[in-house]
Amino acid sequence: MPLVPMRLLLDHAAEHNYGLAAFNVNNMEQIQAIMEAAKEIAAPVIVQASRGARSYSQDAYLRHLMLAAAELYPNIPIAMHQDHGNSPTTCKSAIDQNFTSVMMDGSLKEDGKTPADYDYNVRVTAEVVKMAHPLGVSVEGELGCLGSLETGHGEKEDDHGAEGHLSREQLLTDPAQAEDFVRKTGVDALAVAIGTSHGAYKFTRKPTGEVLAMDRIEAIHKRLPNCHMVMHGSSSVPQELQDLINKYGGKMKQTWGVPVEEIQRGIKHGVRKINVDTDNRMAITVAIRKVLWESAEKFDPRDYLKPARDAMKQVCRDRMTAFGQAGQAGKIKATTCKEYSKVYKS
Ligand code: G3H
Ligand code: 13P
Ligand code: ZN
Repeated sequence: MPLVPMRLLLDHAAEHNYGLAAFNVNNMEQIQAIMEAAKEIAAPVIVQASRGARSYSQDAYLRHLMLAAAELYPNIPIAMHQDHGNSPTTCKSAIDQNFTSVMMDGSLKEDGKTPADYDYNVRVTAEVVKMAHPLGVSVEGELGCLGSLETGHGEKEDDHGAEGHLSREQLLTDPAQAEDFVRKTGVDALAVAIGTSHGAYKFTRKPTGEVLAMDRIEAIHKRLPNCHMVMHGSSSVPQELQDLINKYGGKMKQTWGVPVEEIQRGIKHGVRKINVDTDNRMAITVAIRKVLWESAEKFDPRDYLKPARDAMKQVCRDRMTAFGQAGQAGKIKATTCKEYSKVYKS
């Protein structure tokens, strides 16, 4: 099947009340893990690459790996998405590389660190929509800054994230503003700020509504029932994986992620895309550490990359099953971006 626009998948998910995991990738094994999991449960998939991932893997490798996935798994619809594009130029370069969807994250300025004002966000996001839609490429925008309501800080682990202290107002998407933003920009999906952040260190205890504002999602959904919402920073950071990393010589401090039940609650109220990277990173790390810890004589990368791939596959399978996308692949009609572009013209 050709790579499909993300909007096609989101619309199907909304129609049938399920959510789609969007998994970050940097290399072949991660793509293989996602695709094998998707095949086992017949799930449509969203694969995404950050700017860091694109520079780590190089666009040409990534493009050919994704074409290989489409060739090897003809029954699985796959959307290829640019995660946290920092400018229209980044989004354009992703489209040139066959991405079928882009995120213009105008909640931050082009440096990916400084919170941007609302007018800037509307302007750059609308510019990307104007460029992408005639090509049938989907666009995700973001309103509000990702970051912790406990500390007032964005994530520090990844390159992309707000710097400095953020107010509660900046850290929570305003429902009325969301309505205006979606109308003015024409985005296909809206990433919302509700207290989640990237990386493992999201919450210092199991999150309550004070620090994980699921009620915002419900409020936005009431105003914008047809808007596909996106939850970033949605790894669950399982206790078991934390313990295993430490068991095999790692050093992770105790932390809490986003419980899967909260994501399921979000899905009931308009969340259609759920970004997961950290849980897969942790599963891979556990598997590699375990092999090297227990079999110090090994040095063939396949001896640890194969278990790492299997471990990520299991996480992907679990999340896709929990979000309800299992069994949906065969119900989605293969559509190229070019074919889909007509939808925006009508
Ligand atoms: O945006 C956050 C994802 O976890 C990607 O992280 O920028 O380190 O590739 P990255
Ligand atoms: P996690 O770090 O929680 O996996 O979030 C990933 C993400 O939001 C990528 O955009
Ligand atoms: Zn994100």
